[in-house]
Amino acid sequence: MKIWLSGASSGLGLALARQLLSDGHQVAVSARRAEPLQTLAGDFPGQVLVLPADLTDASSVAQLAQTLQHHWAQLDMAILNAGTCEYMDVQHYQHALLEHVVRTNLFSASLCIEHLLPLLRRSAHGHLVAIGSSATFFPLPRAEAYGASKAALRYLMESLRVDLAAEHIAVTLVSPGFIDTPLTAQNDFPMPMQLTAEQAARHIARRLPAQPQEINFPRVFIAILKLLNHLPAALRLAVGQYLSRNAKEDQSNKEHP
Ligand SMILES: NC(=O)c1ccc[n+]([C@@H]2O[C@H](COP(=O)([O-])OP(=O)(O)OC[C@H]3O[C@@H](n4cnc5c(N)ncnc54)[C@H](OP(=O)(O)O)[C@@H]3O)[C@@H](O)[C@H]2O)c1
Repeated sequence: MKIWLSGASSGLGLALARQLLSDGHQVAVSARRAEPLQTLAGDFPGQVLVLPADLTDASSVAQLAQTLQHHWAQLDMAILNAGTCEYMDVQHYQHALLEHVVRTNLFSASLCIEHLLPLLRRSAHGHLVAIGSSATFFPLPRAEAYGASKAALRYLMESLRVDLAAEHIAVTLVSPGFIDTPLTAQNDFPMPMQLTAEQAARHIARRLPAQPQEINFPRVFIAILKLLNHLPAALRLAVGQYLSRNAKEDQSNKEHP
């Protein structure tokens, strides 16, 4: 299969690229940093197409799609994995932070969809995949920007699923819990049921061939979040405030051990 994957220079994307390449696929990889992508290409000779790009930049994405089209007649799967997470300090609410996170997590995905859909349409079994987040199942403290970007990404994918069904293009939204990556290494709070990037990549790669609408994991963690979200509104707020207090205490313990 011919697969394009974004955010392949570190974390989940890098582990997923390695897994897909080990499974024998041809993988085109993108991220801003070219060096880790070149290393990947060196490890899997003849299987990797290196396409570095800043995916928030429209002309870079257009150029990327043109190069991809030059090398491949069709694209079987596009995996929108590139993303970022920054936490909001509500005492100093910053619109710029939200704008940056939304641009990286939502607008870049939308740009890639615009430019890669024509190539996906040429495949007999086109498959569009996005990495969302379990944060969309329960509003978490300080996640205003990240949660909003991933909730919007969820709606975008769900709506696209309906519209692309007539063209037999499958749409999968992946919503993972915590994964040990450079992104979460900055987190100053406990991350229950955290998986390694390799475990998460194996799980995703195993599920993708069935083209499911959703891949949510770890299952127990997701079930807890969904259950919490079904609590009466007042209780849901109390749980959120409890988590928020804990997050502040953890942060303060780290700053003043
Ligand atoms: N880690 C978790 O617990 C977790 C949980 C749920 C969902 N996720 C999602 O999983 C995805 C991967 O995250 P991760 O944890 O693996 O983080 P990561 O290690 O920081 O990887 C993020 C990737 O996105 C790329 N990227 C960021 N901005 C980009 C841009 N403007 N243009 C092109 N590439 C860009 C980065 O590459 P460059 O810096 O080289 O550009 C990097 O390869 C994200 O969408 C994240 O929201 C992660």
